[in-house]
Amino acid sequence: METMLFSPYTIRGVTIKNRIVMSPMCMYSCDTKDGKVRNWHKIHYPTRAVGQVGLIIVEATAVAAQGRISSRDLGIWSDEHVDGLRELASLVKEHGAKIGIQLAHAGRKSEVDGEIIAPSAIPFSEKTRTPKEMTKADIEETIQAFQNGARRAKEAGFDIIEIHGAHGYLINEFLSPLSNRRQDEYGGSPENRYRFLGEIIDAVREVWDGPLFVRISASDYHPEGLTVKDYIPYAKRMKEQGVDLIDVSSGAVVPANIHVYPGYQVPFAETIRREANIATGAVGLITSGLQAEEILRSGRADLVFLGRELLRNPYWPYDAAKELGTAISAPVQYERGWRF
Ligand code: FNR
Repeated sequence: METMLFSPYTIRGVTIKNRIVMSPMCMYSCDTKDGKVRNWHKIHYPTRAVGQVGLIIVEATAVAAQGRISSRDLGIWSDEHVDGLRELASLVKEHGAKIGIQLAHAGRKSEVDGEIIAPSAIPFSEKTRTPKEMTKADIEETIQAFQNGARRAKEAGFDIIEIHGAHGYLINEFLSPLSNRRQDEYGGSPENRYRFLGEIIDAVREVWDGPLFVRISASDYHPEGLTVKDYIPYAKRMKEQGVDLIDVSSGAVVPANIHVYPGYQVPFAETIRREANIATGAVGLITSGLQAEEILRSGRADLVFLGRELLRNPYWPYDAAKELGTAISAPVQYERGWRF
């Protein structure tokens, strides 16, 4: 059958061979001292490329050392990170996948020793440290760090950049009124809470002309928090600023009980796609080919992002193709074997 899942998708001049995206997932596999690519990354990511994933987005990669979620995260805060990332990108591309990188700053959710920063001096939970309220200089420095990260990602040969604006990390902390109580132009109104992300997008766009994704948390799951409705004007704004796709996740800005079930975040991707007229990615408990095909065919999202299913099964695309009754190509080394 003619599927959408295995149809190519072109975004800002980059063609992804199918609609399957490996969602960014921290591997906690760097040496704690340096955030550099190691053998693990060079095995893990290219394996999914061999598995025929169309686009692989490398885990949250810190634009500042203090912006790491854990001390074992990948980093892109120094020019010394570029060589390892270049090798990783080229290994993935050699197998026909496109490669993206998620640029991140953990803000108040960083578990790394030392000072943590956030829009306001409010801890994530009773069990976590209280961050320092960022000064204007801290804000400028961090925007610059995102720009430097984007420049390095370009030098390393990445096809796509994703800005991590979700899951209660620094950008999300600015967006949500639950974590942003600032009195200056970076807090208060929805426009002011957007300013930090808006300035990061502009700064990245100065050095990056390729496809740009932003991951958001479309719901704070809190009565005073943001909902998908709040993200519609934000998504429109992002589109005007040259963002190509919104990768729609949810939650984690404050502790909350979230009822999860297959496709639980898909309605958010669908709403944003329809209301803001921008391409979206759907993510969250997508595990079967039919489920992925339904999301795409019903116009609920343009790409499907898979996380844990691709940890379990790096060759998931072959299974999905079988499930959908379509044939996909494989590396010549395997195709030869399959003839026997
Ligand atoms: C994640 N997730 C995640 N998200 C993100 O934006 N950046 C990241 O670095 C990580 N890291 C990460 C590590 C691990 C081990 C897991 C399981 C998850 C979230 C992930 O990208 C995805 O959104 C969720 O896992 C939901 O999709 P699945 O797993 O249900 O397909």
